[in-house]
Amino acid sequence: MKIKQLFFLICLQCFTVLMAQDIKITHGPYLCNMTQDEVSVIWTTDKPALSWVELAPGDNQSFYATEHPRYYETIAGRRLSTSTFHCIKLKNLKPGTRYNYRIFSKEVRSWEGSGKVLYGNTVASNVFRKKPLSFSTFPCNYADTVSFVMFNDIHERYELFEKLCKNTGFNKTDFVVFNGDMSSYLVDEARLFHGYIDVAVKEFAKETPILFAKGNHENRGVYADKLCKYYPASEGRFYQLYKYGDVCVIVLDCGEDKPDSDIEYAGLANYDSYREEEARWLGQVLETKEFVDSRVRIVVCHIPFITGDWHGCLHLKKLFLPLLNSVKIDLMLSGHTHAYSFHPADAHCSFPTIVNDDETVLKCEIDSENIKIRIVDQDNRLVAEHFIKIISK
Ligand SMILES: [Fe+2]
Repeated sequence: MKIKQLFFLICLQCFTVLMAQDIKITHGPYLCNMTQDEVSVIWTTDKPALSWVELAPGDNQSFYATEHPRYYETIAGRRLSTSTFHCIKLKNLKPGTRYNYRIFSKEVRSWEGSGKVLYGNTVASNVFRKKPLSFSTFPCNYADTVSFVMFNDIHERYELFEKLCKNTGFNKTDFVVFNGDMSSYLVDEARLFHGYIDVAVKEFAKETPILFAKGNHENRGVYADKLCKYYPASEGRFYQLYKYGDVCVIVLDCGEDKPDSDIEYAGLANYDSYREEEARWLGQVLETKEFVDSRVRIVVCHIPFITGDWHGCLHLKKLFLPLLNSVKIDLMLSGHTHAYSFHPADAHCSFPTIVNDDETVLKCEIDSENIKIRIVDQDNRLVAEHFIKIISK
């Protein structure tokens, strides 16, 4: 046999083996944008696929007991099938309700001729040897206790993040807040997952939803424009109001920390006008029934307003502080400085601010009277503790 023929045969064999390899789930799934009736489930595969989620009641019944409704990602009625990135929004769920779920991806091998799709194998999360994945939607009514944890300024130190996660009892955690700078630079999808999302998936995010607040570093790098894919909040904006029972969490987007014209931003920054637009949104949000009826009100913003003299901080203070001072806010949670600090309410700011360190996890538990904060380091040592009395409106 001639060398050329042999080479061709080897190539053909390699190609056949590659084609025969099963499709794999490469990252996720993780949950975000949880509300009282919606949640987004996100994962990736190593090959383009038609993907869906099957949803079942969150009881102990076997997932195989019956067929379950399927949810797909669609655009104008057409199911998506050409991507390795899958984001399925589950809608019209019941508030405060537990659900079991299973993800599926059916490989799309090729498109033949004018429109025939050739499918390969299907991969799914395991419900045979493992319990199905589950989540609970946020409740509408008062909950006796609300527990969440907050991480910030991890800057892709995934080993540190994993240690901090080990000290956190996620089974008693209703949601997890990422308060900015979880990444240092957004370069590509692989680095985003490797930097911290893979750890989040392993430790909690398959079942405990993420509330994402963007930090200034998440505006940086060639892939920063794509971040909204991974946290698909409201139409590409990263500011959002969440309600967990009668607890309101306002997530703000701080933008960048230096003036927009700074050399570091390569002519791409337009955060002054973004923050102005956000302030108009905040003004409207503070008048909504959702906010007005809330018993507890927490603001999450990566850059604290109360400390610092860089442009981003000063601009946030100028735009947002008068609005927040005009209503009852119980607490603001921030990061960014890489050092723990506590700032009680004073004549300039009507609410306290806690700034979490870059190597600690902040745990928050809200009951009928208090907001209890515990800040714990990677060796599970208590760094700080606060009891903040909930004042009525
Ligand atoms: Fe920061």
